[in-house]
Amino acid sequence: MSSDLPTGFQTELLPVHVAIIMDGNGRWAKKRLMNRVKGHERGSETVRSVVRTTRKLGIPYLSLYAFSTENWERPKTEVATLMSLLRRFLASEREEMLGNNIRLNAIGELDRLPATVRSDLEAMMVETAGNNGMVLTLCLSYGSRDELTEAMRAVAIKVTQGLLDPASLSSDDIARHLYTADLPDPDLLIRTSGELRLSNFMLWQLAYTEFVFSPTLWPDFTKEEYLEILKMFQERDRRFGRVNDT
Ligand code: IPE
Ligand code: IPE
Ligand code: MG
Repeated sequence: MSSDLPTGFQTELLPVHVAIIMDGNGRWAKKRLMNRVKGHERGSETVRSVVRTTRKLGIPYLSLYAFSTENWERPKTEVATLMSLLRRFLASEREEMLGNNIRLNAIGELDRLPATVRSDLEAMMVETAGNNGMVLTLCLSYGSRDELTEAMRAVAIKVTQGLLDPASLSSDDIARHLYTADLPDPDLLIRTSGELRLSNFMLWQLAYTEFVFSPTLWPDFTKEEYLEILKMFQERDRRFGRVNDT
């Protein structure tokens, strides 16, 4: 890996948590006069390569936005393809996850997923539960507003039960009720395909995240570009609202 790194890349200055909005599969296929399905197929190749690079670099958390709550509104055939590609991905990455100490995690309204997908996911999560080299979180049927609403509901219930005191409610209390309770906030968010929006992704968790928007369509996203983006992250001055006079 070290020989492939861009000049000036600092292996000790990496984000702890990288989150990616993987966008542009449909446009990639359209440009080639192919069905959108082809774009999703090629997109899953990119996922494989990004997971591998992230693991090799030693970045401990990678979260991938793979399917949003809004994506259920897409044509049935496209949704079905995405679900079967997901199963295929899980099957083909099994060895990779087990061999490289990767723990699989999934967040979102998982009970809306087809039973077959859910059982494959659950099996992989159980099988990789003891791994501690990297946490790979797939965001599936994920929507940040639903996540926040669900958290507020859980908090409200605890308040009515007398388990939480509203007067002392903290932002940590809210964070503990999100799907991401066990994850640190992302340090770096990458969105491909040139769209400059969050599309309902981790609205709470991205409060102080560094954003990089790339024009590249997801199937064309390479390891080289990923490394360049990580280098850009290293050059950012993260102030968190404070003054940095060093
Ligand atoms: C990202 O690519 C994959 C998912 C959202 C599931 P798209 O399918 O959104 O591709 P574009 O944005 O239409 O090009
Ligand atoms: C966001 O992409 C969701 C995922 C990448 C899974 P979309 O393609 O669904 O977002 P919009 O429609 O461009 O906002
Ligand atoms: Mg899109």
